[in-house]
Amino acid sequence: MKPQYLLSSFSIFLLFLHCTNTFAQSPAAAPAQAPAVVASPPAATPTQAAAPHGITNVTKILEKAGHFTILIRLLRSTQEESHLFSALNDSSTGLTIFAPTDSAFSELKSGTLNTLSDGDKSELVKFHVVPTFLSTSQFQTVSNPLGTWAGTGSRLPLNVTSYPNSVNITTGLTNTSLSGTVYTDNHLAIYKIEKVLLPKDIFASNAPAPAPAAPAPEKPTKAVPAVTVESPAASVDVSSALIVTHNLVVGSVGLLASAMFSL
Ligand SMILES: *[C@@H]1O[C@H](CO)[C@@H](O)[C@H](O)[C@H]1NC(C)=O
Ligand SMILES: *[C@@H]1O[C@H](CO)[C@@H](O)[C@H](O)[C@H]1NC(C)=O
Ligand SMILES: *[C@@H]1O[C@H](CO)[C@@H](O)[C@H](O)[C@H]1NC(C)=O
Ligand SMILES: *[C@@H]1O[C@H](CO)[C@@H](O)[C@H](O)[C@H]1NC(C)=O
Ligand SMILES: *[C@@H]1O[C@H](CO)[C@@H](O)[C@H](O)[C@H]1NC(C)=O
Repeated sequence: MKPQYLLSSFSIFLLFLHCTNTFAQSPAAAPAQAPAVVASPPAATPTQAAAPHGITNVTKILEKAGHFTILIRLLRSTQEESHLFSALNDSSTGLTIFAPTDSAFSELKSGTLNTLSDGDKSELVKFHVVPTFLSTSQFQTVSNPLGTWAGTGSRLPLNVTSYPNSVNITTGLTNTSLSGTVYTDNHLAIYKIEKVLLPKDIFASNAPAPAPAAPAPEKPTKAVPAVTVESPAASVDVSSALIVTHNLVVGSVGLLASAMFSL
């Protein structure tokens, strides 16, 4: 073998090494500016999650990620699992799912899920699904309240606010923030949350809906000023905060709620 040939083979090898190295390094710089949520890498990649027909399987992603057994059970019992599957096949706008962990469910007062009707369980699950794909950076520009599969309107608000280091969510009854990205491609995003998002529609069912006489109750009104006070109440247990809300809003009905939740 000629030395020249050896030399050029070696150069090509070096060039290859250089390219590989450059390629491997370049994506690392990208996520620097985005909120902290992006820092945790997705647990599954699009190829891992693809079902036989190339449709993303949400249950499989949640199973692989772990700590979502109660959510998976709810998705199955409410048939939302197959709803998600067909929606991901049909939808051109994609989906965003807020996935409460098992510990989020365990923070609920015991018996909370069992006391819900099948319809309310479905609504609770649907309240965690936004019918649009939202990347973490899109939360900065999204307009509140977000519509969910459960619907829109004053009894189903879901507001998302983006801060430099967090993306916070409020339903009026639950305050939480995204604690990680379970999965994302350009069509489906699944974000982990540490609290179950409680919709007013179910969990404040006796509270008077604002402006019931308004001709279009489905449209959110801007008449009600948002409470912007910072308070340590965010760390308060969800169910006791709920009871406090009841007491404030409807007085004696709070007793009924207390009785209900102590079952
Ligand atoms: C999705 O994945 C789950 C869990 O691996 C499995 O039970 C289910 O059959 C899958 N669904 C489809 C439609 O492939
Ligand atoms: C996905 O959508 C296509 C086109 O609408 C349809 O033909 C197909 O049956 C769907 N697949 C599943 C598994 O639902
Ligand atoms: C959600 O945002 C809308 C629009 O800014 C506001 O009117 C509403 O009061 C907010 N609701 C909650 C629960 O924060
Ligand atoms: C965002 O939520 C976190 C907890 O989930 C809370 O500690 C923080 O104060 C919230 N930020 C704002 C501005 O409400
Ligand atoms: C949620 O946060 C808002 C604003 O920070 C606060 O006024 C409200 O009391 C909190 N609600 C709960 C249930 O923690």
